[in-house]
Amino acid sequence: MNKKEIKNLYNLKINLLKKYNYSYFDKNNSLVTDKKYDELKKEVIDLENNYSFLNSKYSPSKSVGFKPSKNFKKSLHKVPMLSLSNAFSEEDLINFEKKIKNYLSIKNDFEIFYSVEPKIDGISASLNFKDGKFYKGLSRGDGKEGEDITENLKTLSDIPKEILLKDFPEEIDIRGEVFIQNSDFKGLSEKFANPRNAASGSLRQKNSEETKKIPLKFIAYTFGYEKGLRVNNQSDFLKKLNKWGFKTNPLNKLITSIKSLIENYNEIEKKRADLDFDIDGIVYKVNDFAMQRRLGNVANAPRWAIAHKFSSNKAVSKILDIEIQIGRTGALTPVAKIKPINIGGVIVSNATLHNEDEINRKDIRVGDTAVIERAGDVIPHILSVDKQKRLKNSKKFIFPKNCPSCGSETIKEFNSVTKKVDAVRRCSSEGYDCDKISIEKLKHFVSKEAFNIDGFGKKIVENFWKLKLIKYPQDIFNLDFSKIETLDGWGKLSVQNLKYSINQKKTISLERFIYSLGIRYIGLENAKLLCKHFISFSKFKNLSKKTDYEDMLNIDGIGETQVNSLKNFFSNETNKQVLNELEKVLLIRDAIENSDDGILKNMTFLVTGKLNGISRAEVKSLIEENSGKTISSVSKKLNFLIIGEKPTKKKVDYAKELKIKVIGQVEFLKMLNKTS
Ligand code: IVH
Repeated sequence: MNKKEIKNLYNLKINLLKKYNYSYFDKNNSLVTDKKYDELKKEVIDLENNYSFLNSKYSPSKSVGFKPSKNFKKSLHKVPMLSLSNAFSEEDLINFEKKIKNYLSIKNDFEIFYSVEPKIDGISASLNFKDGKFYKGLSRGDGKEGEDITENLKTLSDIPKEILLKDFPEEIDIRGEVFIQNSDFKGLSEKFANPRNAASGSLRQKNSEETKKIPLKFIAYTFGYEKGLRVNNQSDFLKKLNKWGFKTNPLNKLITSIKSLIENYNEIEKKRADLDFDIDGIVYKVNDFAMQRRLGNVANAPRWAIAHKFSSNKAVSKILDIEIQIGRTGALTPVAKIKPINIGGVIVSNATLHNEDEINRKDIRVGDTAVIERAGDVIPHILSVDKQKRLKNSKKFIFPKNCPSCGSETIKEFNSVTKKVDAVRRCSSEGYDCDKISIEKLKHFVSKEAFNIDGFGKKIVENFWKLKLIKYPQDIFNLDFSKIETLDGWGKLSVQNLKYSINQKKTISLERFIYSLGIRYIGLENAKLLCKHFISFSKFKNLSKKTDYEDMLNIDGIGETQVNSLKNFFSNETNKQVLNELEKVLLIRDAIENSDDGILKNMTFLVTGKLNGISRAEVKSLIEENSGKTISSVSKKLNFLIIGEKPTKKKVDYAKELKIKVIGQVEFLKMLNKTS
C-alpha cells in the first residue's frame, strides 16, 4: 500500500469508530459486538504506531472522555465551578503562601492551616439539594453551564437521595468527583483507555439503566451555592459531609507549614500506586472560610487553593521532524514530531520544544533519541537528547529567520519592563496580514472562553478559511449558509444547527468580547479588568487619547506591558475595521457596574501608608464591591484619603488643603460596618 492508500484505510476505520461511538454514547445502541469494537480500536492504534503520519482527533489514542452529548439539557451553575492553579515544586508552594499572606496582609510567621485532599482524577459533578432532597445534578461543562445528568447520578449508591438531618442546609450544591475504582475498572479495560474515560463515558449514557451497570463512586469535597450552611472551615465541612451520608477521601488531612505539606506529598506519592483510585496530585485549601472569602478568585481559579501535581511520566522516543507552529500572537513555536509512544496511558506524537533558545541550549536535532516528559494536562516536552546515539551526519537545527507562513522577518522583542530580550521569536507582520496568525486568531475567537460557538471548532475554522469563507471575525456572522450546505460533510440539518449556534452568540458581554479579540497580554483576567474600567463597548472602541492610556495604568493589575499592547492593537487599521464591523452584527452588553447602590456609591478613595492586617488590593476590592471607586492621586475628585502608617506627607497636606476627609483604617472599616 502506498501512503495515500494507508491514509484512506485509516480514515475509513476512524469514521467507523465515530459512527459506533455516536450510536453507543448518544443513542445508546451498540452497532457491533464489544469484541468487534475493540478489534477496530486496536487496528487504528496499530496503524498509528506503524505509520507516524497518521493522526486523528477521533483516534482512541487521543479521546479523553466524550464530547457533551446533545441528549442532555444544559443548565447554569448558580455559582461557577472553578478550576485550580497548579504547583509543581516547593518554590511554587512558597509563592502560593506568600501571595496569600501579602493579600491578607498577615505576618510571615502566621500559621495558615490547609485542608489537604488527594486530587482524584475523575469527573466533577455538582449535586443540588433543596429541602434535603437531591434535586438536580450537573456536570462541570464549561464551569458556568453544565449538562443535566441527574438521572444518571441518581444511580450512584454513594449519592444520598434524601437527607433529613437538621443541620443540613435549606439548599446546597454538593460538589465532588465521580470516578471508578481501579479494581472495578479491570472488567472495563477492554472498552475504555483508562478509568477516567470509563467514568466520563458511563456518566453520559443516554439511558440511566446503562449507567447503573457501572460501579461509579462519588467523593464529596466542596460546595457551590448554599443557603443555611453553618460551618466555618473546610475540615469541619468535610466532617459534616460524612455525617450527612457522603463519602469523603480517607486521606484528607489538616496541615500547617510548607515543610509538612511536602512531607505529606512525598508520603502519598509513595502510596499512590497502591491506592484503588487514580490521583494526579494533592489539593491544598486554606481551611478558614472567612479567609477564603476575603481571598476570592482570579479569573477561574480561587486564590485560596492550589493543586500540587505529581511528577510526570517520562519515555524515550525518536525525533522524526521539527515543525514550526505559528501562534495567535505571532510566536514561532518549534514542535518535535516524535515516533508515537505511550506515556502513562496516552499516545504522544508531538512534543513542544518551547523556543529557539531551548533548541540551541539542548542542541536538539532531527533524528535524535530524546527523553519526553508528560505532566498532567500540560503539552509533553523534550527533556534531553542522547548525543551518544546521534548519527554522524546529523545537522544542527537552524531556526527560520522568516515566518514560514507569510515570509515576513521574524524578531525577538526587547521587553522594556523586564529589560530582557524575549526568548520567543515572532512573526513581525501585523495580525491579519499573516495567514497562520489570522487562522489562530479566529480559532481563539470561537473558543470556549471567548465566543464559545457550539460546533464551530478548530477544524471548521481551518476548513472555512481554506474555502475563503472566513478571513476576519465578522465573517463568521455573515456566512453564506447556502454555500456551506453544498460542501462535503454538510447537510440541511447541520447547517441549521450551525446557524442557530452562531445566532445565539450574537449577544456577548463586554469582557468576553475583549478577551475574544486575542490581544496579546489581555487574557481573561485582564479583559475583566478592562471591562470594569470601560463599562461600554463604545468607550473601549474609541480608546485613543494619551490620557486614556495613562488612566488605564491606574487599574490594579494593568501595567505598561498591557497598555503598550493595547496601543499596538489600536494603531492597526485592520483591527479598528474589525471592531467596526463586529459592532454592526453584535450586541455587546455593557458591564454591570458593581451593585450600583452600595454603601460607598459616588465616593472616591485613595490609600497612603501601610495598613494593618489588610492589603491595598483587598481594600480596593472592598471599595469596589460596595460601589465606591479608588483613584490614584489627590485631587478635587477625591472624597476620602485613608491613611495608614508612614503616609506620604505631601498627599496628606494637599488633601487637607483641599478639605478632603482624612480617615484612618478603623474609620474606613466602620463605614462598611466592619470592625476589624
Ligand atoms: S475543589 C474551587 N477539591 O480538580 C475549587 N477539586 O482543577 C475547585 N478535584 O474540577 C474544586 N479533587 O474535578 C477540589 N479535593 C478536591 C478535588 C478537586 C479533585 C478536581 C475537580 C476540579 C479540578 C480542579
